[in-house]
Amino acid sequence: MKKRALITGISGQDGSYLAEYLLSKDYDVYGTIRRSSVAENQDSRIKHLDEKINTFYADMLDAPSLARVFNESKPDEIYNLAAMSHVRVSFDVPSFTIKTNAMGVLNMLELYRTVCPDAKFYQASSSEMFGNTVDSDGAQRLTTPMNPVSPYGCAKLLAYNLVRHYRNAYRLHACNGILFNHESPRRGSNFVTNKVVKTAVEIKKGLKDKLELGNMDSSRDWGHSKDYVRAMHMIINHETPDEFIVATGETHTVRDLCAYVFGKLDMDYEDYVVQNPKYMRPEELKYLKGDASKAREVLGWKPEYTFESLMDDMIDHWMKIL
Ligand code: GDD
Repeated sequence: MKKRALITGISGQDGSYLAEYLLSKDYDVYGTIRRSSVAENQDSRIKHLDEKINTFYADMLDAPSLARVFNESKPDEIYNLAAMSHVRVSFDVPSFTIKTNAMGVLNMLELYRTVCPDAKFYQASSSEMFGNTVDSDGAQRLTTPMNPVSPYGCAKLLAYNLVRHYRNAYRLHACNGILFNHESPRRGSNFVTNKVVKTAVEIKKGLKDKLELGNMDSSRDWGHSKDYVRAMHMIINHETPDEFIVATGETHTVRDLCAYVFGKLDMDYEDYVVQNPKYMRPEELKYLKGDASKAREVLGWKPEYTFESLMDDMIDHWMKIL
């Protein structure tokens, strides 16, 4: 019998790559999408999978819609990826963010516990949960204290703890993947990597003349979404439910990112980048570098993309599209 996977947020960057990955492993794939007034926004990343996957309208805050999806998909594996995923926007809509990213996960866990407790559950946890805590060697790992600095991070931390609690209290196979930033050509263009790459290509082609950014001194550990969805599958299928960090172990500032991308296009970023306070955050997470040694040693996971090949993939994409 084919395995059945349910992916909440299947139309997002990770949801779409995970759906492709699970189809390649012969799964039946089910997923939830949220209604949007611009219909194209709902399925632009999964249109090519139309005939191969089963999608349902649902919302993390609408428990009856989730119950219908659980009952119709009867999942063996549940990947909970749906969320309000933009950290800066979470300061503007804190209540919505906390409800969706924390109470929404509680809705999912209650359905999991009562409808299909024999299934496996993966929660998309985030390096944003660490806030500004860094170990003395300059990395974050599973033992690093978590002190989030955004409504998004606070909500993700509550969800992370709920998953651990449900695992222990109800003996469920519920796992957390703490994923550091991961990008791709499918990344929303209001996240910094795709914003920089897309605008740099537009400047190169004479379509724009400047790039407005916020804080250029923060550092992130950027990997490729394709590598990270592979890790999700390994985490959920590990014999014991557990927590894992997924990261490259390399960090770069937003400034380094600009220098690489503009340099690749034979331009100097300093001629085009201007700072706009609009893109600053009330509290900033300054530095992320993940220690994924447990995922490497226990699961045998390792990334195929480097920072440079990730950026090159995104540059090639926009050079073709624009
Ligand atoms: N989005 C954005 N736009 N970020 C900017 C800009 C800008 O114009 N200018 C500077 N930045 C800086 C941000 O202040 C932040 O320090 C860094 O670029 C990365 O921002 P994002 O790409 O928006 O990602 P994020 O780190 O806030 O959050 C992402 O990673 C988390 C994992 O740590 C998201 O994918 C989250 O959903 C994810 O959990």
